[in-house]
Amino acid sequence: MGALATASSSRADPGAAFSNPQIEARVDALLGQMTVEEKVGQLNQFAADTLTGPGQVVSDGDQKIRSGQVGSLFNAVAAKATNRYQKEAVEGSRLHIPILFGYDVIHGFRTLFPIPLGLSASWDPGLVERTARVAAQEASREGVRWTFSPMVDIARDPRWGRIAEGAGEDPYLGSEFARAYVRGYQGMRLGDPDSIIACAKHFVGYGAAEGGRDYNTAEISERTLRDVYLPPFHAAVDEGAGTLMSAFNASDGVPASANPFTLTQVLRDEWRFSGFVVSDWTAVREIMLHGIADDGRTAARKSFLAGVDMDMQSDLFLPNLPGLVRDGEVPADRLDESVRRVLRIKFALGLFDKPYVGTTEAVGVPPARRGVDLAREAAEESFVLLQNRDTGSGALLPLGAGRGRRIALIGPLADSGLDMMGSWTGAADPGDVVTLRTALSRRVASEGMVLSEARGTAIAGDSESGFAEALGAARSSDVVILALGESGHSSGEASSRSSLDLPGNQERLLEAVAATGKPIVLVLFSGRPLSIGWASRHVPAILEAWFPGQQAGPALVRVLFGDSSPSGRLTVSVPRSVGQVPIYYNSLNTGRPRSDPIGLGDKKADPYYVTGYIDEKNTPLYPFGYGLTYTTFSYSPVRVDLSTISARALKAGTAHLTVSADVRNTGAREGTETAQLYIRLRGTSVARPVRELKGFRRLRLAPGESRRVDFTLGREELSFWNIEMKDVVEPASLYVWVGPDCTQGSPAKVELGE
Ligand code: GLC
Repeated sequence: MGALATASSSRADPGAAFSNPQIEARVDALLGQMTVEEKVGQLNQFAADTLTGPGQVVSDGDQKIRSGQVGSLFNAVAAKATNRYQKEAVEGSRLHIPILFGYDVIHGFRTLFPIPLGLSASWDPGLVERTARVAAQEASREGVRWTFSPMVDIARDPRWGRIAEGAGEDPYLGSEFARAYVRGYQGMRLGDPDSIIACAKHFVGYGAAEGGRDYNTAEISERTLRDVYLPPFHAAVDEGAGTLMSAFNASDGVPASANPFTLTQVLRDEWRFSGFVVSDWTAVREIMLHGIADDGRTAARKSFLAGVDMDMQSDLFLPNLPGLVRDGEVPADRLDESVRRVLRIKFALGLFDKPYVGTTEAVGVPPARRGVDLAREAAEESFVLLQNRDTGSGALLPLGAGRGRRIALIGPLADSGLDMMGSWTGAADPGDVVTLRTALSRRVASEGMVLSEARGTAIAGDSESGFAEALGAARSSDVVILALGESGHSSGEASSRSSLDLPGNQERLLEAVAATGKPIVLVLFSGRPLSIGWASRHVPAILEAWFPGQQAGPALVRVLFGDSSPSGRLTVSVPRSVGQVPIYYNSLNTGRPRSDPIGLGDKKADPYYVTGYIDEKNTPLYPFGYGLTYTTFSYSPVRVDLSTISARALKAGTAHLTVSADVRNTGAREGTETAQLYIRLRGTSVARPVRELKGFRRLRLAPGESRRVDFTLGREELSFWNIEMKDVVEPASLYVWVGPDCTQGSPAKVELGE
């Protein structure tokens, strides 16, 4: 993945989406008329109506807008509001510069899709692009033309609540999804009225917060930064994303919103990014709390000169930058460049030509049918079937008359619309959510089955007053569906947990229901992987549903009854216990490996002095890439078209490897398999991970059908940042796997010669 971390880019000119001679000419003409205060005004952003962070809504907003001191507003989500503010700017200010309205459109605007971690489990970038397209169409109708999405932070620590907002632990997969979101949001042309500008966030390293504690310090080496945390941002920039958001955290003692290495050397000098960077909420002001500025003026100067172009909610650029420019502490041309970056985006979006939107109040209108159908499709593809054991008459799922007519639905998440939405719910209405209980009631009635229900317990808390009713419902059933997990707001921002257990006394309820001897289908709702060790040992069927969004119920019923087969695959490792964290598949082998991942005798002769715990295994409960469905698949041995190849030719891009395998549906039902390509490099100048994902294919196969999958390995897949911190392909022994997850298969070996 290193190739994209260099100056080169896989696209001719990623900035072409928002820069061309006509736009530049209009920017120059406008810039020439602006006072210093008006220029700084374009770099000032604050929340219009609602708060998504600490502080208060600015009171004299209209006055600031009329005086040209507001470049952007966010959290105004209805056309009536955005048009009103826009009128103040366009008709009330001297230069009539339109406002750019932003909003956290994270997994939908009015139509709510699964949380991003759930969407990533689909391993379907095309699906995610379609959801982003619908979100853009809905948001733009309200005047919102900028979303603070995609969140592309790599996360290896499920204690961190914001793992819910991203695409998991892998940089290759994270990069593919980053591209998909940018394509979906920005559409074919930014000037189209239903395009919105993307914002890759949080730049950079936010997911490495120590202890999984939100906003906490990260310690990331430059090599890990370039190999793991930067690639999804580079992919987003390469795909033409117009903005980035700088993060709260410090890494290596430098706050991300005042870090010239990442914000200028990497982003501008190496990647040639020509869009603009907005700080996260009050992150400019917070560099005083980090301790590298004693006053607002210093904070503004350091953050601006490091590379932050727009100040979200700190209100420090506005009062300080004009003086800093006049005192020569901030060069005038540096100010002009930041203003240019903002204005070109506004011109590219067509805001100068069409600043207003139609006044249809779509926010209050139910989501369109197309969006609702897509929400159900996305939810179905997001579910990961973790277990589906035989309970004596075959695998427990899918349900149906053969499984008994009486179903008990138990648990605090069976009928909670709000919790199905997860964090960052946009302009969606909980009233639009169809819960599992609602959909199951309809299905059971249509099948002439019998449904009994009991909440059993709360999501959090320790009261067992509901247990008796729940156990009664279980005893009178043939199969129990247990809807357990977290509340929708116990992940997302400022929602780190020190435990990965089921909250409250849900585990006790689970054990009590299991003690009735009835077969259980555990449907798990969570914004992070949970350490469900007891359940994995005692519950025959477990479906991870994440937070599925507004079509939670219909999607779950279709999968539980087999109308559609689960096809999701994990994009995060599921720990056995929180003590294993951070846990991720693409780790280094160490000098004392406990296992021997590629059978090279890595396993130390002595089984004692090896890396591990005395009270826990090293391996996760369920590994990255894993997921079951209602059929089975087999893989042929992996094939490579060359047994040796020149590293130099690979680096030059004049040679590549072809890797292939045959995948067969060996079961009795149609199913979708995600064939995954992994590599390992040995003999390199720095240690490389025991496995790295470098490709995947989603295959829909009929029973008995076999299909060949082909992958190409070239410079982009085989380069990495070596001992001299250069992004190169080195001579090495290359091992390649094609399999169903990060643990299976036998590798083929290829020598990368000089
Ligand atoms: C929040 C979040 C960021 C969000 C922004 C605006 O603090 O960190 O992800 O986009 O503020 O709501």
